[in-house]
Amino acid sequence: MLERIIPPGFEPGMLPEPASRGAQLTLHYCVQCHNLANPAMHDARRWPSVVRRMVPRMQGKGNMGKLMAEMMAGVQAPSAEETKAIVAYHVKHGQKPIDPARIPEVNAPSGDSFRLACGQCHVLPDPRRHTAREWPAVVARMQKNMEWMNQVVGSKPIPGEPQLRIEDINAFLARYARKQGP
Ligand code: HEC
Ligand code: HEC
Repeated sequence: MLERIIPPGFEPGMLPEPASRGAQLTLHYCVQCHNLANPAMHDARRWPSVVRRMVPRMQGKGNMGKLMAEMMAGVQAPSAEETKAIVAYHVKHGQKPIDPARIPEVNAPSGDSFRLACGQCHVLPDPRRHTAREWPAVVARMQKNMEWMNQVVGSKPIPGEPQLRIEDINAFLARYARKQGP
């Protein structure tokens, strides 16, 4: 198991359309080296390149030393057709990025906390994904993800403001959040 790549907590039963072929293939191939990744982690534009970066590793073609090569013995790789199905599944269930044309504040100083903290691992999420009541729990989980993934919190800090400004982030998200629960 490789450490510190994908945080724990996203369980097989949480996959969207868990009985679908895409979900089944994901469960078969994508947990061989690290924890299961949430398909909502990346957007449709990003997933194809992420999955395609994983496949050569499963084929043992990665750039790896002897130890890594031994660790990888027995890892199974998807066929080209299975890879397509895995990509399609992730694209379908990916997250939607924020639209700066609709929410120009994301590029204004009052959007700094959100923009700098929340774009480090994936695209900046669309605030309409959750309601204002739901967002604080998601943001708290992201704070844990950051600690877990050893990401320096605010890797591009605003001079003099290196901290993660949770209240600013939640306030920004609340301004544009979805109005009602699902
Ligand atoms: C052979 C081992 C291996 C398998 C199997 C594997 N991964 Fe990975 N994965 C890695 C390694 C090593 C990294 C860290 C380096 C990197 O990001 O490329 C990683 C990182 C990631 C990341 C975090 C980096 C990012 O760009 O967000 C995601 C998401 C991910 N893998 C998804 C997947 C999915 C989806 C599958 C199944 C198609 C998969 N992985 C199968 C080895 C693997
Ligand atoms: C250290 C990397 C990292 C950072 C920084 C990060 N995230 Fe995430 N994000 C993840 C991972 C990993 C997942 C998938 C696992 C999960 O959902 O916890 C994810 C998934 C998501 C999702 C989709 C899942 C859902 O519940 O809707 C949203 C939305 C999201 N992040 C919002 C944010 C926001 C807002 C911030 C800034 C406060 C942020 N992320 C910062 C790693 C990160």
